[in-house]
Amino acid sequence: MIKVAILGSGIGKAHLDGYRRLPERFDVKFMCDLDTTRAAAATENDPKIQIVSDIAAVLSDPDIDLVDVCLPPHLHAPVVIKALEAGKNVVCEKPIGRSLAEVALMQAAIEKTGGKVFPVFQYRFGLAFSQLSALMEAGLAGKALVASAETHWNREKPYYDVAWRGTWEGESGGALLGHAIHSHDILSNILGPVAQVAAFTDTRVNDIEVEDCAAVSLRMESGALVTSSVTLGAAPDTSRLKLCFEGLTAESGSNPYAPAEGIWHFTARGATKQEDVDRVLAEVAAPYAGFAGFLDAIADALSDNGGKEVTFEDGRRSIELVTAIYTSAREGRLVQLPIGKEEALYSGWSPA
Ligand SMILES: NC(=O)c1ccc[n+]([C@@H]2O[C@H](COP(=O)([O-])OP(=O)(O)OC[C@H]3O[C@@H](n4cnc5c(N)ncnc54)[C@H](O)[C@@H]3O)[C@@H](O)[C@H]2O)c1
Repeated sequence: MIKVAILGSGIGKAHLDGYRRLPERFDVKFMCDLDTTRAAAATENDPKIQIVSDIAAVLSDPDIDLVDVCLPPHLHAPVVIKALEAGKNVVCEKPIGRSLAEVALMQAAIEKTGGKVFPVFQYRFGLAFSQLSALMEAGLAGKALVASAETHWNREKPYYDVAWRGTWEGESGGALLGHAIHSHDILSNILGPVAQVAAFTDTRVNDIEVEDCAAVSLRMESGALVTSSVTLGAAPDTSRLKLCFEGLTAESGSNPYAPAEGIWHFTARGATKQEDVDRVLAEVAAPYAGFAGFLDAIADALSDNGGKEVTFEDGRRSIELVTAIYTSAREGRLVQLPIGKEEALYSGWSPA
């Protein structure tokens, strides 16, 4: 049984719902938030969960194994490092850090303490991605040709009434760092690593500091070509993914926040036969989806049965991709990965 403290009760409430779906694996002991009324409401006044407001008190409790950081982005790195130094394993919401330099500090703390950090990318978990993995493992997909992603969501003024959002200081980035990061993680996980990036970004929807629209092109190391269209000015909210392989095309529905759970179409082409695709699809059992799937994989990893968990390296790569996209958009050039310390935005991209 893994004993958990959740820090931050906004998205932390959805994490709690995920832990509650796995009662044989996780026991949530604390919900910590400066706003204790909000924290209590998030737990539905569950008497087994202590409501506290002091992060240090939670970190010093020897009973806690896993600290789940659901705080605003500027607090991620400092709190993750403190949790590691207190001997805890850590779940950290996206974005794990505000620059590659900050991520390197987290990496150093991981190496020093031997703790584990699991960045949150829960969109990866669900039936459709298990099916796509099974098709790829069965050799039916073949070479990846192209893919496209749409993160077309809607965010209006009330969303930005939360002080940290929409600002370089508090949010550290816009739709690329906070929203499309999920679909970019999925594409990187399936088709990556990314080799080259060309991008445009702009603020066209809301009166905010950070970007809310983007057009991104990626060339993967495999040669696959990927395009990503991002806006926070769409109606209604939709996420779409389409991946064209030599042997089949995989096309998502439009479920914005759980793309793996919508209706997908897997259509054979070339030498692949549809009946073989359908046979593989029929054999895939529905896994836990979303946060429950993400957390189930962490419990496996912490009991030496890993392989499906989101790794710290996945989180680092997500920040490297954002760094490359901002570099390309600002400097108007094609950017090659990996991003080294010599790149201007390695230590941060907030305008002075
Ligand atoms: N994975 C996802 O799908 C997803 C969805 C939404 C948000 N997020 C991420 O989760 C993080 C939090 O976002 P949110 O929407 O829940 O934000 P939020 O502002 O709604 O909630 C953050 C909470 O942290 C609390 N807090 C701030 N400083 C604190 C401190 N020092 N000690 C204790 N509590 C403190 C605040 O009181 C607030 O209740 C962000 O990084 C965001 O990008 C991820």
